[in-house]
Amino acid sequence: MASSLVRSLVTLAATMTSLVTSKPLETVDLTYVLGKDAVFWPGQPPFNFTIILRGRQPGGYWFEVNAFGLGEHGGTHFDAPAHFVQGGWRAHQIPSSRLVGPGVVVNVADKVKGNAEYELTTEDLMNWEEEYGRIPDGAVVLMNSGWGSRYPDLEKVFNTKNPKDPTTFRFPGVHRDAARWLAEERNITALGVDFPSPDTPRKSVAAGYPVHTTLLGKDILILENVAYVNKLPPRGATIIIGTVKLQDGSGGPARILGLLGIDDASGSPQLRACRLTVLLMVLFSIVRKVVTL
Ligand SMILES: *[C@@H]1O[C@H](CO)[C@@H](O)[C@H](O)[C@H]1NC(C)=O
Ligand SMILES: *[C@@H]1O[C@H](CO)[C@@H](O)[C@H](O)[C@H]1NC(C)=O
Repeated sequence: MASSLVRSLVTLAATMTSLVTSKPLETVDLTYVLGKDAVFWPGQPPFNFTIILRGRQPGGYWFEVNAFGLGEHGGTHFDAPAHFVQGGWRAHQIPSSRLVGPGVVVNVADKVKGNAEYELTTEDLMNWEEEYGRIPDGAVVLMNSGWGSRYPDLEKVFNTKNPKDPTTFRFPGVHRDAARWLAEERNITALGVDFPSPDTPRKSVAAGYPVHTTLLGKDILILENVAYVNKLPPRGATIIIGTVKLQDGSGGPARILGLLGIDDASGSPQLRACRLTVLLMVLFSIVRKVVTL
C-alpha cells in the first residue's frame, strides 16, 4: 500500500514538473560570418579588419583588440527605412519592439531552381496562409529561395561572370505586388531574403526599387543575405533582428536569430496555469482519499 502510494506520488511529481516547466530554447543562427569574405555590393567600402594589439603583455596577461570598418550594406544585414525614404527611421531610431517577431518562412526553392530570377508572388504568400494560417501581426517574413547555398562565392551569389558589374547580376526577388500586399493587407515587421536584395537586379534601378520603397515606406525592415533559413520551420520560430544601433545609419550588419520553443502552446502562461489547476485538483482528490483511508 505504502509503496504504491509513493510510486504514484513520484509519477505525479514527474508529470507535474514536465507539464509546468517550459522546454529549453533552441537557437538557429541566421547570420553569416562577418569577415573578408562577406558579400558586398560593388562600390561599398569593403570589410577592413585591423589588429591593433594581440599578444602577451608585460603584466603577464593575454590581450587582443582590433578595429574594423565596413560599408553598412554587406553580409547579413538590415536596411533601415531611411535607406530609401527621406525622413524615415535611421538605424538608431528603430524601436526595439520592431526587432522581434514571429517567423514566417516561405519556401520557393523549387521555383527558383527552374528560374534564377523567380520573384516571390502574392499567391506564394496566400498558399502559405492556406497551409499555416494568417500571417501574424508583427511577423518577420523570410523567403527561402535556396540561394543561400551559393554564399559567399561572388560569381554564384550575383550569378554573373562580372561580379563588379551590377547590370549583369541575375538573382531572385520579391514581386512588387507581393511587397504591396504585405505592406497593405498584412501587418509585418520585416521581410528577409536569403540573397542580396529583394528587388531583382534587372528591375531595381530602372523601376526605382519598388520593393524597397514599398516596404521601407511602411517602416517594414528589409533583411538581406539572411543565412540558413532552411533550418527554420515554416512557422513557430521567433525571430530576433539584432541590429547595430548605429547613429544615423541607413542600415548595418545584423545578428539574426531564430528561437524555437517559445511560440509553443505548452509554453504559454495561460495554458500552463490551466494545467497546473487541473493537476492541483487531482492532487487534492488523492490527498483527500489518503486522508479518509
Ligand atoms: C583600415 O582601418 C585602419 C584602422 O582603422 C586604417 O588605418 C586603414 O587606413 C583602413 N584601410 C582601408 C583600406 O580603409
Ligand atoms: C500591428 O501589429 C502590432 C503588433 O506587432 C500591433 O501592436 C498593432 O496594433 C497592429 N496594427 C494593426 C493596424 O493591426
